[in-house]
Amino acid sequence: MVYENLLIEREDNVAIVTINRPKVLNALNGATVCELGEAFSELAADPEARAVVLTGAGGKAFAAGADISEFNDLVSAREATNFGLRGQGVLNHIESLPKPVIAAINGFALGGGCELAMACDIRLAADTARLGQPEINLGIIPGYGGTQRLARLVGRGAAKLLCMSGDPIDAAEALRIGLVDRVVPATDLLDEAKQLARRLAGKAPVALASIKQAINVGLEGSLAEGLAYEAAQFGLVFDTEDRVEGVTAFQEKRKPVWQGR
Ligand code: COA
Repeated sequence: MVYENLLIEREDNVAIVTINRPKVLNALNGATVCELGEAFSELAADPEARAVVLTGAGGKAFAAGADISEFNDLVSAREATNFGLRGQGVLNHIESLPKPVIAAINGFALGGGCELAMACDIRLAADTARLGQPEINLGIIPGYGGTQRLARLVGRGAAKLLCMSGDPIDAAEALRIGLVDRVVPATDLLDEAKQLARRLAGKAPVALASIKQAINVGLEGSLAEGLAYEAAQFGLVFDTEDRVEGVTAFQEKRKPVWQGR
């Protein structure tokens, strides 16, 4: 598919998805959200894409939120609800992609941009990044999962502080509260993200997907349910050719060659 608002590049087994609306700080208009859904569907179906980096064009923003210029088109509560559900659906899709997705947060990640980053598996932030949920300043609330994923990531108090104040935080504070996983100099961000993605792309694909799913599913239920799920996944992964290859390669003191089955 041809994308108007995204750039999709490939470097070996790593796909780099760049939101490409730098003039409006990569604001997520409806078309861009739709394209993200399409792009991640294509990547889900592509066995050669084993890890994904998601970032924003222009050096100033990852994404500065939903595109506010489209808000006046939402003329009823029902339309606004559907708007939220469409965005949530795309972010759920990214969160459940059976391969790792790394957000390279290269500047503002506000509102929908912060929510998009939170749907990724791992967040690397430039030391210049600023993150937040400023919707309150528009008289609205986060609608792409912000109240839910943020509270799960950073806890109730910090989530309420961010959503209720609308104040953005810098990368160091985001690291401190667990909103991002690593902070690197802005000039190194993309290279670091690609390097991490390459490392993950070199791991056994079925096991990678299984780890992602077990952590995601497990965190939504009780410990007992999570442990049962992990045991079932452990069984499935143990049954793969890659498990035989991984153990054999260890014993033969060589690098494993994964087949993804
Ligand atoms: N939706 C639509 N357009 C946006 C946008 C958004 N979420 N965020 C930024 N833009 C546009 C601006 O309108 C501006 O367009 P213009 O040049 O045609 O006026 C352009 O991007 C550059 O933004 P600008 O505000 O001039 O940059 P800045 O460096 O002064 O400020 C921000 C950066 C991020 C602090 C500021 O743009 C902002 O507050 N954006 C909105 C953030 C937000 O509320 N997000 C949640 C939406 S629910």
